[in-house]
Amino acid sequence: AIERTLSIIKPDATRRNLTGKINAKFEDAGLRIVAQKRMKLSIEQAQQFYAVHSARPFFGELTEFMASGPVVVQVLEGEGAVLKNREVMGATNPKDAAPGTIRAEFAESVGENSVHGSDAPETAAQEIAFFFAGTELVG
Ligand code: CMP
Repeated sequence: AIERTLSIIKPDATRRNLTGKINAKFEDAGLRIVAQKRMKLSIEQAQQFYAVHSARPFFGELTEFMASGPVVVQVLEGEGAVLKNREVMGATNPKDAAPGTIRAEFAESVGENSVHGSDAPETAAQEIAFFFAGTELVG
């Protein structure tokens, strides 16, 4: 089925001017960028977005990092987009990421791992609504 998923290019990647190279990986995999904006998250926005991880020991580190510089939030659309995006990103920890994936090529560590992607269609819908109005998605 045609799906949509929420992607975030994280501050470690925008800092190194990797937005275009990362977007090329998505497009080469058949994912269409149907919405995209560059923004600086507040600490409160980062905490709200990652609320599901609030009990984790790395929550403070994660939310401070996500508010430390510009991010590019985007909606990717395509056949099986949620899983396809996860394949293109590679494993969370770059040490475990398959060759050719975004995290294998660009991630600096498990925390500063260049991209976020929704983990399931249900969370994708919630995460897209967190950042975008329906009228901003142009398929
Ligand atoms: P993401 O897909 O954005 O979702 C939650 C994030 O938490 C994850 O990517 C990692 O970047 C981050 N994360 C996971 N494990 C750790 C860890 N041990 N230390 C710091 N950050 C982590």
